[in-house]
Amino acid sequence: MRVPLIAGNWKMNGSLALVEQFGQAFGEANLSSSMEIAILPPSPYLAAAQTAFEKTPLRLGAQTVNPEPSGAYTGEVSASMLSEFGVHYVLAGHSERRSLYHEDDKAVLVRVQAVLNEGLTPILCVGETLAERDEGRTEATVLSQVKTVFDMLNAQQRQHVVIAYEPVWAIGTGRTATPEQAQTVHAAIRAYLVEYDKQMASTLRLLYGGSMKRENAAELLAQPDIDGGLIGGASLKVDDFLAICQSVG
Ligand code: PGA
Repeated sequence: MRVPLIAGNWKMNGSLALVEQFGQAFGEANLSSSMEIAILPPSPYLAAAQTAFEKTPLRLGAQTVNPEPSGAYTGEVSASMLSEFGVHYVLAGHSERRSLYHEDDKAVLVRVQAVLNEGLTPILCVGETLAERDEGRTEATVLSQVKTVFDMLNAQQRQHVVIAYEPVWAIGTGRTATPEQAQTVHAAIRAYLVEYDKQMASTLRLLYGGSMKRENAAELLAQPDIDGGLIGGASLKVDDFLAICQSVG
């Protein structure tokens, strides 16, 4: 049984006022107790969000982490610091980090390891570019991104990872993968995970991300291998994000 997870990645957006708004709305909302919901605000808002979300089902997540435990890394934040603010989930390998900040597979791996070592849950993001899809390399790209990380984890660590499939061409573009396109890739990832461990493959959560919104969430989330969503733009409006959470079947 996989507990659905809906995670809102605010990216470099939001405000203290938005944190308060989410705390208020989710404190009053009627939501299924058999799902998990997380908001990943920019790190300066973590302390306020920890307080504002206290009486809500919202968990906290972070958008990135530095793999080092501490030291002279100006501007960076460590996993133990995130943990002190009640963070549960940490993204690793988001396509914006891969492309804008040149985080390669090795950089993604050390971040996943740092998050796991702190006892937190990494959300490993994978996904192909439009060129890779057009060249028929979708599965090869995505599975190789999974492999570089999973090969270096032990069996116990693998069980604690969440994977988010986010086709790069669908992120922030308004162009969503069809439910069939997404399901095909999710099924391929799950089939690949069986090579490591059948039990882990059946319990590991696979999220879809890329222009998921209230209009298309139910159909995507109804796919057998889609266990939740990683939502960018639509997580910035409380009504839209609530509607997505409510469309978990
Ligand atoms: P989007 O972003 O929902 O705005 O496409 C998703 C993501 O980048 O995680």
